[in-house]
Amino acid sequence: MCGIIGIITNKKRDLVPELISSLRNLEYRGYDSTGIALIDGTVIKRLRRVGAPSDVLHAEEIAEELEIKEIGQSIGIGHNRWATHGKPSERNAHPHIDCSGDIALVHNGTILNYESIKDELIRAGHMFTSDTDTEVIAHLIEDKVAEGLSLQNALLATIERLEGSFGIVVCSTQEPARLYVAKRGSPLSFGIKNDSLIIASSTNAILAHTNTFITLEDGEYAELAADENGIRYHVGNFLDKRRGITKKPTTITDFSIDELSKGEYESFMRKEVYEQPAAFRTTLLGRYDEQTGDAVLGGLIDHEETLRSTQNIITLACGTASYAAAVGGVLIEALAGIPVRNEIASEFRYRTVPLDPKNTVLFTVSQSGETADTLESVKEARRKGYPTFGIVNTVGSSIAEAVDAGVYTRAGFEIGVASTKAFTSQLAVLYLLALKLARTRGMTLQAGRAFLAELERIPEMMQRTLSETDELMRAYAEKYVAKNIRTINFLGRGIHVPLGQEAALKFKELTYIEAGNYPLGELKHGPIAVIDKHALSVIIMPKDELFSLSKNSIEQILSKDGNVMVVTDEAGARELKKGSIDVVTIPTLSNPLLYPLLEILPLQLFAYHYARALGNNVDKPRNLAKSVTVE
Ligand code: M6R
Repeated sequence: MCGIIGIITNKKRDLVPELISSLRNLEYRGYDSTGIALIDGTVIKRLRRVGAPSDVLHAEEIAEELEIKEIGQSIGIGHNRWATHGKPSERNAHPHIDCSGDIALVHNGTILNYESIKDELIRAGHMFTSDTDTEVIAHLIEDKVAEGLSLQNALLATIERLEGSFGIVVCSTQEPARLYVAKRGSPLSFGIKNDSLIIASSTNAILAHTNTFITLEDGEYAELAADENGIRYHVGNFLDKRRGITKKPTTITDFSIDELSKGEYESFMRKEVYEQPAAFRTTLLGRYDEQTGDAVLGGLIDHEETLRSTQNIITLACGTASYAAAVGGVLIEALAGIPVRNEIASEFRYRTVPLDPKNTVLFTVSQSGETADTLESVKEARRKGYPTFGIVNTVGSSIAEAVDAGVYTRAGFEIGVASTKAFTSQLAVLYLLALKLARTRGMTLQAGRAFLAELERIPEMMQRTLSETDELMRAYAEKYVAKNIRTINFLGRGIHVPLGQEAALKFKELTYIEAGNYPLGELKHGPIAVIDKHALSVIIMPKDELFSLSKNSIEQILSKDGNVMVVTDEAGARELKKGSIDVVTIPTLSNPLLYPLLEILPLQLFAYHYARALGNNVDKPRNLAKSVTVE
């Protein structure tokens, strides 16, 4: 959470537009308030605003407002905030400064012991101007500098006092050619260009400048310098007190800057919904063999024996990733017969799971690879001895680095806060994984080949589903907004239950209306009490062996005046009474276990159109951040 940017250059230039565009690229990480600071000659100039950078930071006004004296600057830092301590307000927005105004810093993370430090600093005469946990860092550094320490040593001494997580970027008028950074628990990478170094909490903001960067690990700090001798960096480790660490820069080549823009679409979410067929295809690419009817997961090649012999699987994830894992869980149990336990990462770390690490493997799923709950749980699982594998989208992210091995999803950059293409790409890997496990446990060659043949057709079927349901979902969304629906539930049976969970999450994230989900058969055991003319039940029920049972539930809902929308395949649609219910038809597949890959698409579109009809921001829903790096 929170977006951090810092730029240092030996070619002085107007850094304001660069800081603003970087903050826009980081907007998905937090967007309740924002700010920048620059070293202008010998003073720090700072500007902070409530709102998202694209709405409230405009380069022309800023230069005037800051009364910038110098033609160009060498150092600038910026921040997008996702408030944790103190309301979103100008006084709480970053950058924060010390009493003298000579030191400015931005911070991502949470300082757990800030209250006691703040009391101590106030007693020592420091003046606080915000309600944040972050501000103590600026005043602690100020004290250490006053004791005679260099800015770097002051930062290192300060860090020793901090409990919690941080990615910190700090600058001072006393060292106008240096930026100092440190990381524990919150992501930080810096990009390397001829004349500049760019530090950011996400490579999204770096890639607009350069495709070569270094990712810092927990416990690392860096000094970034730019002067007449060029640009230099120096990395050290504050945990084991190593001063010089050689780190090999990563260069990304398969990346287009267009991925960071909306292109012809009105929102990132809409673009990403429509990117799903391509993302799914890319995630499958080169990862199966039609001849052997098997998946080929290169990242797991050294662990095939472990996978062949495992008796249990744990999945570990949060939010959308956990629902992808749960769909995968049903699939693995159905195809491979291995019991799967779907664990929510924020719970797993704090409770006992009575499974033996000797015959259990753990798969963690994450788009960002930085989710703190998931990352900490992965570390806990490794401590307990579970072989731990990742299904992660972000290359080189903390979770990708923390696991024993893994398979990358290839969804590309997902900017919309509500996850869409990451979900279906996670499913792509999980479907391949289920196939791999099943083929070592009795699934026949023919069945493996048939499964793959159908999986290969999915991108085309996704494309069809999107074009055939988009307008319909808009019409249904507008109809139900007009009807003033008060209760909405997403229901299904079997593999459609976790799919309903994801549909409900999408709906509530975007519309701010509470949405429930439960297995359809549970309806009569209590939830039916909420059904009336203001309730909408969305039932996910392609034509399978439970179809008739599901039809009974529809009758029960209709008899209580409830509204019903059904997502089904062509055969199912033919058997439903049109008129009394709204029907959404998806293309027919021969293996019903593959339907979740299509079912989610109209439900994403339903949430999207519903939110737009309500006037909500679909890319940046309220109260959320894309990457949840606090526990
Ligand atoms: O980056 P991760 O996949 O680890 O994120 C997990 C959840 O925070 C994330 O899926 C969240 O639920 C999204 N907002 C869903 O749209």
